[in-house]
Amino acid sequence: MSFLTVLYAILFYIATAVLVAGLIRKILQYARTPAPLKIATTPAPTNKTGVALRLAREVVFFESLFKGNKWIWIFGWIFHFGLFLVTLRHLRYFIDPVWLPIELVQPFGIYGGMAMAVGLVGLWARRFLVDRVRYITGTSDHLILALLVLIGLTGLMMKFVVHVDVISVKLFFRGLLTLNISPLPADPLLLVHLLLVVTLMIVFPFSKLLHAPGLFFSPTRNQVDNPREKRHLASWAKSLEQE
Ligand code: HEM
Repeated sequence: MSFLTVLYAILFYIATAVLVAGLIRKILQYARTPAPLKIATTPAPTNKTGVALRLAREVVFFESLFKGNKWIWIFGWIFHFGLFLVTLRHLRYFIDPVWLPIELVQPFGIYGGMAMAVGLVGLWARRFLVDRVRYITGTSDHLILALLVLIGLTGLMMKFVVHVDVISVKLFFRGLLTLNISPLPADPLLLVHLLLVVTLMIVFPFSKLLHAPGLFFSPTRNQVDNPREKRHLASWAKSLEQE
């Protein structure tokens, strides 16, 4: 087995461990953070089903972003929807046999890749063009956008410029899952694409990309608007009350 194959196998195992452990740690931290006050942004749902629907609308349509800023909304939504299609298309590397819906989504995944790039360029442009946004933009914002753009571009180049042996790519990743490692093709574009993906997996639990799980823990979005019907008490406040 080549050095590259072993190196990438180790990198992906480490990156997966960091991603999973990092996400669990962060989600536990979010879940344990007290929400001492009722601060649902009104008008807010008055029961749990309503809250579930509100969160679903946030996830699917980015509802509050739409109300807040149309430019960020349109580019953000294009990027995320593209990413969603790309993720579905990539599932073919990890499952065998490939499920019918994943087979059917393949061509849309390519448009998803293009949409991803368009959305990212729009989001990045605003960090240069809008004074107020440029002022609060940090190096990490640029680095994360660059990382995502480069992953997208190397992916699209493999599709449209220099083809890679996707069957071998699949065998390698199936091998990682079944602990039966098979050779990874040594195409430069693929190696760069995968190295960037490893980087993304490792930085994810320490970056602003945590807004994905974070959304579900936002008190302004996940609280039921029933302060009169049910007294709101954080768990630590309950124990104080008994003293
Ligand atoms: C272990 C994970 C990944 C593997 C094995 C992988 C592999 C590949 C391969 C082999 C291609 C070329 C497809 C073709 O020629 O038909 C590709 C394309 C692409 N990849 Fe990835 N990739 C991974 C993760 C990602 C991630 C996390 C993103 C986005 C953040 C991404 C974005 C893209 C895009 C936009 C394309 C072009 C559209 C397409 O062909 O699907 N990839 N990827």
